[in-house]
Amino acid sequence: MTFLSTPVKSAINKLSTQLETPFFVYDLDALNTHLARLVAQTDVKLWYAVKANPLSTVIQCLDKAGFNFDVASKGELEQVLAQGINSERVLNTGPAKSPAQIKHFIERGVRTFVAESLNQVRWLNEQAVDQQCQLQVLLRVQLRWPEGEKNPLGGDSLTPFGLGCDEWLALNTHQYPALNFDGLHIFQWGNMLSSDKLAELWSQMITPLQQLASKLGVNLNVLDLGGGLGIPYTQNDDTLSWDALITALANIKRHAGVNELWMELGRYAVGECGHYANPVVERKLNYGQQQVILSGGINHLLRPAVTNQDFPAQLLRNSTAENQAMSLYGPLCTALDCLGEHQLPNDLNEHDWLVFSQCGAYGFTESMPYFLCHELAAEYVIHNGELNCVRQAADASDYLR
Ligand SMILES: Cc1ncc(COP(=O)(O)O)c(C=O)c1O
Repeated sequence: MTFLSTPVKSAINKLSTQLETPFFVYDLDALNTHLARLVAQTDVKLWYAVKANPLSTVIQCLDKAGFNFDVASKGELEQVLAQGINSERVLNTGPAKSPAQIKHFIERGVRTFVAESLNQVRWLNEQAVDQQCQLQVLLRVQLRWPEGEKNPLGGDSLTPFGLGCDEWLALNTHQYPALNFDGLHIFQWGNMLSSDKLAELWSQMITPLQQLASKLGVNLNVLDLGGGLGIPYTQNDDTLSWDALITALANIKRHAGVNELWMELGRYAVGECGHYANPVVERKLNYGQQQVILSGGINHLLRPAVTNQDFPAQLLRNSTAENQAMSLYGPLCTALDCLGEHQLPNDLNEHDWLVFSQCGAYGFTESMPYFLCHELAAEYVIHNGELNCVRQAADASDYLR
């Protein structure tokens, strides 16, 4: 498997002769082909988790493909609406929905919410009464797993995402006349690469969720399974089969007896379309370690420091030199600024560029761009075979006050 297609490689080759600082390239043609496959089924209603990549042109592709939109902040909501998308196609998830945010969302026409606490339920009802509207609400449930079983989204620890079944039992749904409690939401794991494991996790959840819904007197019309579908970050990782997933999801839908099964996809929808090109500044040998110092690091791609999982990297230029282990470091004054150890041709030098792939999700906006005042990365798209700039690189003077 190669992570770099011919159109992306030639676009990056061209840009690397014109630019001196790191940039992202998103292959929207490949994205559109991928999305067309995802929507070619009727078992699951698909929402795009905008947090994965809120770039306007990416959102437009998801819109054209027929996805709906899961937003977690006012910023994400406004970005979606700015693309001409109707608020009826927007769902609001997230643990920090303040009364002010809820008010804004309702004013902007959003009517579907995932409630993550008893307070959120109360605030949703208050704001809906004030604005004389009815809201569709799913309750976000957090299940505990048997001793020794990991909850992959939050490790073994408790997370603030939703509430446990016992905590939800304190809810008296009759006290909230403006809310239509229409189902449950559950999402506790990330970047899963096995459809069997996912099917097993999902099927384990059905009984406790059905029991909770019945105790609360909530009609389980909708079951929202969130995201969590993984993409490979190394050549050896498995790849999920969409067909196998859809078969598993259709089974879950039938067993759970729900009318609608929803998923909010981030990584699996857009992760593979993005690449990050990064100039080498220098290479040095330090205590026996081959160190490559790069122009950009976690200021543009924070995820490796947060998850300990690197984006795959390769040399842009063709080389027949033998591979050697090299440790890749960014420009920040913290040891956290490491983009991993990679096997790279041993003739790599300071005139080279490296390309990191699988960066379409949790890349540009999941970073720490201001630390040390380096440039913001540029963003380019390939669309209908044409390369266009969406954002020029910007100097620190652009954002410093
Ligand atoms: C509520 C919710 N839904 C969906 C997603 C998207 O997850 P993924 O990128 O694994 O598809 C996230 C990611 O954090 C999330 O918090």
